Amino acid sequence: MSDRYIEAHRRSMTDGDGFWLEAASKLEWDVPPTQGWVDGLGWFADGMINTCHNAVDRHVANGRGDDVAVIYDSPVTDQQRRFTFAQLRDEVALVAGMMAGLGIAKGDRVVIYMPMVPETLFAMLACARIGAIHSVVFGGFAAPELAKRIDDAAPRLLLTTSCGIEGQRVIPYKPLVDQALELATHRIDHVVLLQRPQLEAEMQAGRDLDWAELRAKAQPVGCVPVKATDPLYILYTSGTTGTPKGVVRENGGHAVALSWSMQHIYGMQPGETFWAASDVGWVVGHSYIVYGPLIAGCTTLLFEGKPVGTPDAGTFWRTIARHNVDVFFTAPTAIRAIRKEDPDGQFIKDIGIGKLRALFLAGERADPDTIHWAEDMLNVPVIDHWWQTELGWPALATCLGLDDNRRQAGSAGFPVPGYAFSVLDEEGKDVTPGHSGHVAIKLPLAPGAYATLWNNPQGYAKSFQTFPGYYETGDAGFIDVNGFVHIMGRTDDIINVAGHRLSTGQMEQIVASHPAIAECAVIGVDDDLKGMVPMAFAVAKAGYVADDKLAQALIGIVRAELGPVAALKQAYIVDALPKTRSGKILRATLRRIANGEQVETPPTIENPAVLIGIRELFAPEHAG
Ligand code: COA
Ligand code: AMP
Repeated sequence: MSDRYIEAHRRSMTDGDGFWLEAASKLEWDVPPTQGWVDGLGWFADGMINTCHNAVDRHVANGRGDDVAVIYDSPVTDQQRRFTFAQLRDEVALVAGMMAGLGIAKGDRVVIYMPMVPETLFAMLACARIGAIHSVVFGGFAAPELAKRIDDAAPRLLLTTSCGIEGQRVIPYKPLVDQALELATHRIDHVVLLQRPQLEAEMQAGRDLDWAELRAKAQPVGCVPVKATDPLYILYTSGTTGTPKGVVRENGGHAVALSWSMQHIYGMQPGETFWAASDVGWVVGHSYIVYGPLIAGCTTLLFEGKPVGTPDAGTFWRTIARHNVDVFFTAPTAIRAIRKEDPDGQFIKDIGIGKLRALFLAGERADPDTIHWAEDMLNVPVIDHWWQTELGWPALATCLGLDDNRRQAGSAGFPVPGYAFSVLDEEGKDVTPGHSGHVAIKLPLAPGAYATLWNNPQGYAKSFQTFPGYYETGDAGFIDVNGFVHIMGRTDDIINVAGHRLSTGQMEQIVASHPAIAECAVIGVDDDLKGMVPMAFAVAKAGYVADDKLAQALIGIVRAELGPVAALKQAYIVDALPKTRSGKILRATLRRIANGEQVETPPTIENPAVLIGIRELFAPEHAG
């Protein structure tokens, strides 16, 4: 364990205000904060700041205007573009001017439904510039999900593009936006659409405006100071119900935490290149494609492609070598996808990895096998680290920038300075090392963690009620005798599918809404590539034909209602669901059977005969 890590963690616990005010002093404030954490007010409550200024203009003013801020590499459109900090400032100021011209001002919400193109990044920073609150919606969600977010955030403006590109496929965005706006009850004055050359979208006169035309007429605008506690963005994430949770991120704590994390977790210095191969629609994209690297004065890489198939399993290494990436971040599932196509790492041998010095993984548990493969192939540290949309930046990691290098495959590392972890039993008591329980974080949470849930303060409060004095992460895990924290899975119905966070409860609600379905269960089952995939079991109402056509229809409605990202590919129509005598569906039993485990008939089961049919679906030889 490095002395610097020990000292930083100790100080963050004993003098949290001093620790974080010092980190805050590395940024430029309109009014520097004098307070750290204040109960009821939050972090840096008396400070005023502009996030865009710190990510962009500050670097230009400090003589770095000609340094590259953004590299856009899009194998799917065969394009590479670079923007210096000065060019980025000019682009962002124009997009901000375009929005201001439409009457958008501080506190207004702007929904951004856009793919991995530079304009998405300009739009986010432009919102930050004028104090508007952005809410980026991931492209893999269907129109009803977009509509829910529009109704909750009540935006004045929606920004979109004519299409996204998924591998070889062009995905039209505009029909989805039109449908979402029809479904939503909230009315939006304007849609601004960026036409991409791959597909021309039809415009609705009066409502839809052309991005390029507006930008050409726009006047650049400057950065507006906002309170440290003013929201920067709302990012919706899956909760345990069908209603997504609108995580609210505040400007001040977010900027401080990201700036600190780039240097001390990832070990990045200004001028170096950071690549997070995620999507701007997820928290990883917000924090480490857009804000983190830019605030830290690094070059960020915006990659529009997939780990495989765009054009091949060498695309990550080619991109890393081509742009001299220093540190790389992706999800374990992406490495598994590459390994599946290139098990011997031939692409890595042929292409090399330039000067890459570390690979960070997050989004789902990194299985030791994947870590070992990546370490063998890349010959750099492969670091699993853990966080959540709610927290906004890693809470468990190996802090490379504090000279720490302790790693153990299967563990997500140690508490990052600012975070104190406990593993609690049902009564809220600490369990002994090596024993599993609820992973909880002592309060207050570090800067950058969510301040509330948009329109849902009760939902926010819930995460702090189960274990007084703690934030309940919703994850299960244990701390081993050496202090390594191991995250093993969720304690609720959230599953991680290819690094995407989804709610099986929400899928159940959708399946149950089908007129032919009496009841259903959706569970997450293990998957070699995606980590987990959802699987549905449904019972048909009397009078409906329980055939494969019905199963396919269920898959179809989940895709139509939630989106392709749900990745529900397997649905079974069964005679009945296994239940306890009190009527609870035995989801854990279903999951174990679907995972191919031999499962004893639980003593609490009310209808043991049902298990025979279900066992037959997965392991006919064990049925009976
Ligand atoms: N817009 C529209 N559709 C999207 C989309 C987007 N932004 N993202 C995913 N989809 C679609 C996919 O095309 C796919 O559709 P299909 O059912 O018609 O094939 C579906 O949603 C499921 O996508 P996904 O689960 O990503 O599977 P995949 O087979 O396309 O790709 C991986 C598998 C592993 C290559 C891919 O999931 C991946 O790169 N994962 C890394 C995830 C990541 O970065 N997570 C962020 C946390 S760090
Ligand atoms: P998201 O909010 O989409 O980032 O998802 C957060 C959830 O993903 C966490 O609560 C975990 O369940 C899971 N997760 C993220 N990173 C890891 C990791 N390194 N190891 C295990 N689980 C992880």
